[in-house]
Amino acid sequence: MSEQNYMKVNNPHRLLTPGSVVLISVGDGEDDNFFPVAWNMTLRKSPPMVAILSGKRHYSYQLMDKTGEFGLNIPDRSLAAKVIKSGKVSGHDIDDKFAHTGLTKIHAGHIKAPLVQEAVARMECRISQVNDMGGSALVIAQILHSEVRQDCFSDGKWDFSQGLELIHHMGGNQFAVSNTSIQIKEGN
Ligand SMILES: Cc1cc2nc3c(=O)[nH]c(=O)nc-3n(C[C@H](O)[C@H](O)[C@H](O)COP(=O)(O)O)c2cc1C
Repeated sequence: MSEQNYMKVNNPHRLLTPGSVVLISVGDGEDDNFFPVAWNMTLRKSPPMVAILSGKRHYSYQLMDKTGEFGLNIPDRSLAAKVIKSGKVSGHDIDDKFAHTGLTKIHAGHIKAPLVQEAVARMECRISQVNDMGGSALVIAQILHSEVRQDCFSDGKWDFSQGLELIHHMGGNQFAVSNTSIQIKEGN
């Protein structure tokens, strides 16, 4: 490809499309909320750690700050519209974002924050470090427990053979969808 076929990109994070968008669920059983987070990454395998970037004004951030915990829920394509809806409204302005979006909260085993029933995978996380970045904060947490729907996972990996479609946020109301995997033979 000739160099002329490349163009300058002013938002490089759009190229580093992270993994699946996730729903971060927070609360203490009385005041619960959740919000979609596209900016997330794994940090360590053992003990497993995860990082998310959260705006500090988000209602969810304030709850996370108070409780030191969050749930991390991975939605599939069927939840894409609810993911967008949940990111367009704040817990500052509505009483119950679960009811507002039609998602169901369930109790977690290791944290007080709820989990999202409809998610294909869920994690229970305890915050170990917060790096203040001004308007936002990098929140680092240990994953205490994680679970995934059996039809979506096999041999320790996502399994797309039964129709799983994961969604990756591209910006605005757009997602990329992953629904297949390829196996590379070494030496080719
Ligand atoms: C698809 C999508 C991805 C988002 N990713 C992030 C993110 O990575 N970090 C963040 O702080 N906000 C992100 N947002 C914005 C928040 O989810 C949004 O401001 C939300 O309404 C905050 O809710 P709360 O005030 O109820 O906590 C995203 C929104 C959408 C729709």
